[in-house]
Amino acid sequence: QFGFPARSKPVSTDPNNCLNLMPELKCCQDRSPKKIVDFKLQPQSSPLRVRRPAHALDTEEAQKYERATALMRALPDNHPWNFVQQANTHCAYCSGSHRQLGLNISFEIHGSWHFFTWHRAYLYFYERILGKLINDTSFALPFWNWDDPSGMSIPPIYRDNSSSLSNPTRYLIGLKFIDLGGCEGNNTVESLPMQRQCNLQVMHRQFIAGFNSSSLFYGSPYRAGDNSFPGGGAIESSPHSSVHQFTSSDMSIVTRAARDPIFFAHHANIDRLWAIWESIPGNGSKVFNDKDFLEASFLFWDENMQLVRIMVRDVIDTRKLGYVYEQVPLPWMNLKT
Ligand code: C2O
Repeated sequence: QFGFPARSKPVSTDPNNCLNLMPELKCCQDRSPKKIVDFKLQPQSSPLRVRRPAHALDTEEAQKYERATALMRALPDNHPWNFVQQANTHCAYCSGSHRQLGLNISFEIHGSWHFFTWHRAYLYFYERILGKLINDTSFALPFWNWDDPSGMSIPPIYRDNSSSLSNPTRYLIGLKFIDLGGCEGNNTVESLPMQRQCNLQVMHRQFIAGFNSSSLFYGSPYRAGDNSFPGGGAIESSPHSSVHQFTSSDMSIVTRAARDPIFFAHHANIDRLWAIWESIPGNGSKVFNDKDFLEASFLFWDENMQLVRIMVRDVIDTRKLGYVYEQVPLPWMNLKT
């Protein structure tokens, strides 16, 4: 349905060319002579992982996640599973550092149709590594349920300064309500209901904006040789970027964002919105049927310490990846505006 040039190609990550464009962060991992394994979807042997709202975790679930993250932080600095190395993976794909295979052009994962896909793959491996560290094949990342009034402030598990899930620079916003896009009130008791309503309206508007159109939902096509940021989808600007800004400090700087553990809960919710969109009757068939979309590929370290090349076609269905989202109310879906 798109008039793309006959010789177009999907973008893929160059394993041998990553420029440390942010020298102070050293985003590129050392990939020296490592063999690359092609990702294969495994038949499901264990039960599906169920990602639950972060504010609703029970004590045991919260402790598991805290412990897994503490173990990840305690790994040697250069270990591919180390917390900062994992955060750097995001940085390498958003600082212009990673190059497209065989081309001296950066591989940027924001502002195009690969926004949802890359982040889904990233969280997939991150979750499995955490599960591996605590020997739990059912471990699931929580999601920050900021699209529901019950989840519109920083979830408690991220607020404890002594926890591995904290990021001390972020604490300023405390219990404040999040702003999903132009909704910041003054957090007085009187303004809270308005802010809540405004957030729900942002959700409704942004989700429905991309309801019937893959390009408006996913963002614009991005093929090998293209420049970065051809155009992002509706959700990417808000609520996605608004939440980054409002969470402040690391979260508000794209190259540092994944150094705050709340990044992963934020992106689990973004991923959940994609899964909701995909589950709407008729939308499944609106996933781009374009080989440059489906065959784009990224590199990640997996939970078996292998460097894996994963294609977009493998991340279209979360069940095939072994996880689902707990179903919670969607108070914005049928909102009257
Ligand atoms: Cu890769 Cu929320 O950004």
